[in-house]
Amino acid sequence: MRQALLVSAMVFVILAALAKDQAIAAQAPFPSVWAPPGEVMYKQFCAACHGAHAQGNGPAASTLKTQPPDLTTLAKRHGGKFPYDYVSSVLRFGPGSSAHGSSDMPTWGPIFQTIDRNSERAAQDRIRNLADYLASLQRK
Ligand code: HEC
Repeated sequence: MRQALLVSAMVFVILAALAKDQAIAAQAPFPSVWAPPGEVMYKQFCAACHGAHAQGNGPAASTLKTQPPDLTTLAKRHGGKFPYDYVSSVLRFGPGSSAHGSSDMPTWGPIFQTIDRNSERAAQDRIRNLADYLASLQRK
């Protein structure tokens, strides 16, 4: 029951964020392919679970079955190099082997495609900006 409430609350937050995003895209004099900076998207879409500082302790984390990993140790856990391909793939297709993502980590590829009215380039740019932002947070 708590889980169901949390999921509906999160769906609401995501939909509200999408609506706001579209409103901004509609007014702003940006070219049709435009992705917000990684830090802005991180706060909007990721911090609730992964935490404001990406260390995996966001306000929603304690209610999840799988704990959100610390995203500042990605490079450390991948031989000292930030794993761009892995991160892009997790964002696009979801974590794990399932193409549909786990129930705890949303699959962002289709969500970004929806926000950007099916622009594949814009979805790619969003994923790249997010990956660049995460790369900038890596601990030594
Ligand atoms: C609803 C909570 C939630 C949200 C929102 C969320 N994540 Fe996650 N994320 C998770 C969980 C839980 C996992 C671990 C999933 C697993 O192992 O099955 C995860 C895993 C990841 C991983 C793999 C980390 C590793 O150590 O292998 C990356 C990268 C990631 N998330 C990035 C993001 C980004 C970027 C966003 C925002 C666009 C985001 N997440 C939004 C819950 C969330």
